[in-house]
Amino acid sequence: MIPRLDGKVALITGTGGGQGRAAAQYFAAAGAHVIGCDVKVEGNRETVALVRASGGKITSMEPVDLGSRDEARSWVDQAAAIEGRLDIVYNNASAIRAGAFETLSDPDWDFTVRNELDLVYSVTQRAWPFLKRKGGVVINIASICATHTPGGPYGAHNATKGAVVSLTRSLAVEGAPHNIRVVCISPGVIDTPGLAPVLADNARRERLLARHLIKRIGRPEDIAAAALFLASDYASFITGINLVIDGGYTAS
Ligand SMILES: NC(=O)c1ccc[n+]([C@@H]2O[C@H](COP(=O)([O-])OP(=O)(O)OC[C@H]3O[C@@H](n4cnc5c(N)ncnc54)[C@H](O)[C@@H]3O)[C@@H](O)[C@H]2O)c1
Repeated sequence: MIPRLDGKVALITGTGGGQGRAAAQYFAAAGAHVIGCDVKVEGNRETVALVRASGGKITSMEPVDLGSRDEARSWVDQAAAIEGRLDIVYNNASAIRAGAFETLSDPDWDFTVRNELDLVYSVTQRAWPFLKRKGGVVINIASICATHTPGGPYGAHNATKGAVVSLTRSLAVEGAPHNIRVVCISPGVIDTPGLAPVLADNARRERLLARHLIKRIGRPEDIAAAALFLASDYASFITGINLVIDGGYTAS
């Protein structure tokens, strides 16, 4: 009764650390051939070593900058050529630039859109014909910032994550006739390298914790475990959703 992904090829973006690494470990442990990538070379190689040391199957490429459409499409093409199939697309990678809206620069706005939204478009569109052949699953990672505004100068980030949730529903509609399920996960506060600077500030960490119903910060595994379930046949009746995993942050 444990979700299995034997025989499946799973593309996972941003496997160089944090949630992407946890997802690579969970999906490979469930029997998938994970094909990862990251713009970070060292972190991604560490993930490859960790997965292989546990007996998992992973092929990964680095550096790949998915913010470049050409690089994103070329990575998907190379991934598809490995086994001639793609079954799961897990859009995890993202990077942002914060800034108050009034003074946000064009380069910072463009960087955020490119690295949070465009890469979901480029990767998923290129993989779509492969998913159509046998059916498949797309998992998009958004954020509680898509639907809530915890504060701070994150307008561009909140907007792109809102777009990821919205795109999920559209793709679920377009994918359903082809047996493609498309789901979204919105994490809350998760302890990853990306959030390390925020969590290193004790006062800020305590303020965030106080908003949680479950009195701990989230772990990358909290997201990976749910993603594994959603990718598996146990979730065969689930599509178009936005699953919030936030320790009760948005309920409080
Ligand atoms: N950590 C949190 O609290 C939190 C909360 C809500 C949503 N999220 C979302 O979860 C996902 C994973 O975040 P994380 O916290 O593990 O972040 P992270 O920064 O620790 O990991 C993201 C990985 O993606 C890679 N990446 C970023 N842009 C890339 C690009 N253009 N090409 C290739 N690789 C790229 C990074 O190098 C990094 O290894 C992201 O979509 C993030 O927005 C995180």
